[in-house]
Amino acid sequence: MANNISHKLELTWVGKGEEPKLEPRILIENPDYSYGENDTPNLLIHGDNLLALKALEQDYAGRVKCIYIDPPYNTGNAFEHYDDGLEHSQWLNLMYPRIKLLRNLLSEDGSIWISIDDDESHYLKVLCDEVFGRGNFVANIVWQKKYGPANDAKWFSDSHDHILVYAKNKSIWRPNLIPRTEEQLRDYKNPDNDPRGPWRASDLSAKTPSESCMYSIKGPTGLDFSPPPTRSWIVSRERFNELITDNRIWWGTSKTGRPMMKKFLSEVKGGITPETWWSRDVAADNKIAKYESKKIYNGDSFATPKPEKLLERILMIATNSGDAILDSFLGSATAIAVAHKMGRKWIGIELGNHAYTHCYPRMQKVIDGEQGGISKSVDWKGGGGFKFYTLTPSLLNQDGYGNWVISKDYNADMLAAAMAKHEGFRYQPDGQAYWKQGQSSEKDYLYTTTLFITVEMLDRIHDEMRQQESLLICCKAFQPECENRYANISIKKIPHVLLGKCEFGKDDYSLNIINLPEDEDRNETEFANEDPEVVEDMDVSKNNLKSVKSRTIQQSLFD
Ligand SMILES: C[S@@+](CC[C@H](N)C(=O)[O-])C[C@H]1O[C@@H](n2cnc3c(N)ncnc32)[C@H](O)[C@@H]1O
Repeated sequence: MANNISHKLELTWVGKGEEPKLEPRILIENPDYSYGENDTPNLLIHGDNLLALKALEQDYAGRVKCIYIDPPYNTGNAFEHYDDGLEHSQWLNLMYPRIKLLRNLLSEDGSIWISIDDDESHYLKVLCDEVFGRGNFVANIVWQKKYGPANDAKWFSDSHDHILVYAKNKSIWRPNLIPRTEEQLRDYKNPDNDPRGPWRASDLSAKTPSESCMYSIKGPTGLDFSPPPTRSWIVSRERFNELITDNRIWWGTSKTGRPMMKKFLSEVKGGITPETWWSRDVAADNKIAKYESKKIYNGDSFATPKPEKLLERILMIATNSGDAILDSFLGSATAIAVAHKMGRKWIGIELGNHAYTHCYPRMQKVIDGEQGGISKSVDWKGGGGFKFYTLTPSLLNQDGYGNWVISKDYNADMLAAAMAKHEGFRYQPDGQAYWKQGQSSEKDYLYTTTLFITVEMLDRIHDEMRQQESLLICCKAFQPECENRYANISIKKIPHVLLGKCEFGKDDYSLNIINLPEDEDRNETEFANEDPEVVEDMDVSKNNLKSVKSRTIQQSLFD
């Protein structure tokens, strides 16, 4: 009996282990919603993040320095823009495959930061331990999201959120220090004009006494000083004498004070080690977030925005200028707005129509030099740009007889790009050789066509091939003699080659997070008494796919 018990500690739930095999979709630019400089690495994506993350995997695996997500908290409340009331297992089913994909995108020195509240934080911790490894857990930051109690709360007034932080590899990940505030810098003065610059007086006594540091000190005016009761000095007598010689001991302006050690600003660490408690003074709160949101949307606010200062602090600790960040539960785009103002590259993914009604206009304003949030503190002047992408529909769908066929939404370019992704090739059409559409290694090519491939066609291609080049042809049909005709040319039929590889025909893995009745009440206490009446343009997503054929296919955007 005991032998049957697995010793692995594991959280289980209904549906775990039944994660779908995802279709690797391609991303198509919608130029109507791209904005600013053309040559930009930044991507705003409308679609379910599960499919979008899968679509990004080929180009971005291991390349993202920091991921921030603020998923629906599963509080049982229905918000205006999305449904937050998922059954517990369903919520875990939502998070698990997404967190796994997110991990793949992180660079070796990257980190992920997840906002969550008490409803799911402990389950999420265990889930993340499984995906990232317990050893890569860095911190559980407690962020003071609300000032003052909500007196209408039935049990406790919920004043904080958690931010779970995991490193991809904790042994190499280190946080950046937080620059000292003006107030902290004011502690450093230079009353004796020391040429080493400003310093602050620090205690010379130690809490844990040491025998060798118990001695009496004679001050410059003849006064004797002993360590305070139960303590000793922090240095030996020899070291103390060296400090005196080096003018590192301070006796107060009257020279009669207890000895203190001078700590020079030029010699201390370049900033403060981040703490796990983030008060609203250092990271703002939900009220400020609402205020910022109302300013951006001319009085209408997003239902659950985060304040820019919170994101600034995260990106300050986790990234440097030029690093890539990603938020796949984008909401009203706070993370990418802050990333943009701080000179980071970014990818944002949002499922709801607020990709159009909130994310797009906010990022437009940021690029035009919007001055809210952190703009003044980072001296934001505007600039840059982004490309707006949507996901292609499924490559295959079933006809009236239940047979899988290539979707009519795909033109030749899209089909070639999709096949490249499925077969593990990079889509890179060659200007000269029409059959060189995708490449997997220096000499290995892919050619996708809906034509019937004949022996003559195959011979012509083979004549053009150089020594050591190899080719995979994916076509709808071919002459039987083509098979095995050349050792360096393989030939496969579409769609047969794809069947069973992944799940086709499924566009929605969102577990019904959006599409609520429009007038559903929200009652999350920290957002109570606010009235964000945002009018959604429900037609926008339907329009997305209409002109899919005219759009450009995504290339690798960080190159
Ligand atoms: C709490 S909000 C994020 C708020 C954001 N941090 C801000 O400052 O505005 C969560 C967002 O995740 C989005 N979302 C939920 N499920 C999603 C999915 N499967 N794919 C993409 N976005 C999703 C919701 O539509 C919602 O906008």
